[in-house]
Amino acid sequence: MKKNILTGDRPTGKLHIGHYVGTLASRLKLQEKGGYDDFFIMIADAQALTDNADNPQKIRENILNVAIDYLSIGIDPKKVHIFIQSEISELTELAFYYSNLVTVSRLERNPTVKQEIKSKGFAESIPVGFFTYPISQAADITAFKASIVPVGDDQLPMIEQTREIVRSFNRIYGDVLVEPKELLPENEVCMRLPGIDGNAKMSKSLGNCIYLSDSYEELKTKVMGMYTDPLHLKVEDPGHVKGNTVFTYLDAFVNDEDFAKYYPEFKNLDELKKAYEHGGIGDVKIKKFLLQILDDFLKPIREKRKYYEEHLDEVYDILKEGTMYAHCLAKETLNEAKNAMKLNYFNNKQLLDEFKNE
Ligand code: TRP
Repeated sequence: MKKNILTGDRPTGKLHIGHYVGTLASRLKLQEKGGYDDFFIMIADAQALTDNADNPQKIRENILNVAIDYLSIGIDPKKVHIFIQSEISELTELAFYYSNLVTVSRLERNPTVKQEIKSKGFAESIPVGFFTYPISQAADITAFKASIVPVGDDQLPMIEQTREIVRSFNRIYGDVLVEPKELLPENEVCMRLPGIDGNAKMSKSLGNCIYLSDSYEELKTKVMGMYTDPLHLKVEDPGHVKGNTVFTYLDAFVNDEDFAKYYPEFKNLDELKKAYEHGGIGDVKIKKFLLQILDDFLKPIREKRKYYEEHLDEVYDILKEGTMYAHCLAKETLNEAKNAMKLNYFNNKQLLDEFKNE
């Protein structure tokens, strides 16, 4: 069987370093590792509209932002098809049939959707499209016969829902769809990077993000103002590492070579943590260290971004090609699914023959 990979992002804003550690890094790793047939990254504009119906311009503007983010971190369009969801109308058709296989109460139990309904303040006015987006996401995944879906842990309920739909579909209509498996970040801290204010989630609406497109100045202001340990008032005081955002970020980004280069008093993060907990290490010092590391990380990304911003036509063509390629596969899958459901009335006059033979 083919091994396809699919993942995606809603184009509601520029991507940030939380996206990077949460899922973009594992996409890069997969891209380099190879061993797959097709690798798709979808810009989920249709899904983004499910809670932005009144603001299509915002979604439109961010399509290129997100595409440039992908290319700047090193997603290689020769290896990965980047495409735009709304261009593939087969996805909506699949979702329509899948929606017959899912109950309202099953949708109500989705913890991620529940959380989103709360944080978006929908209360009693949840858009139907938003409520049912896990079904549309199942169409995204299955249309491309993806067996691997690299995501953050907030997407687990969608993958689980997709597996259930696949099982129901295959049981009722025949073996057409492929059951997907999630691919989560390798370590705990990468599961969800907190915001610079210490909030558990880095999110645009909370204004606590470090963007992949941040300039050095923006990065500096953010890192130097980061939440640390509110009890660590004087340098000599013992500090706490747990819940200290600077250390969480170091956990996600630092390696031993960084110590040799910028902080040779310590060999590794464990040593620095111990010293901080003991007391005598100031927050400014660790913030400056983190700033170096994050700037080293963002510098090459900024350079590539500059190139693509000056070659927007190239980005446009990459999206167009990726979308055309993706479209072909989605058409094939929809055809297979409809054949399995016997929704193929004008194929070879089979319908007439069946009627005559009755
Ligand atoms: N729900 C995902 C997010 O909010 C985006 C997405 C849409 C997606 N379709 C997908 C992710 C299919 C993985 C697979 O980021």
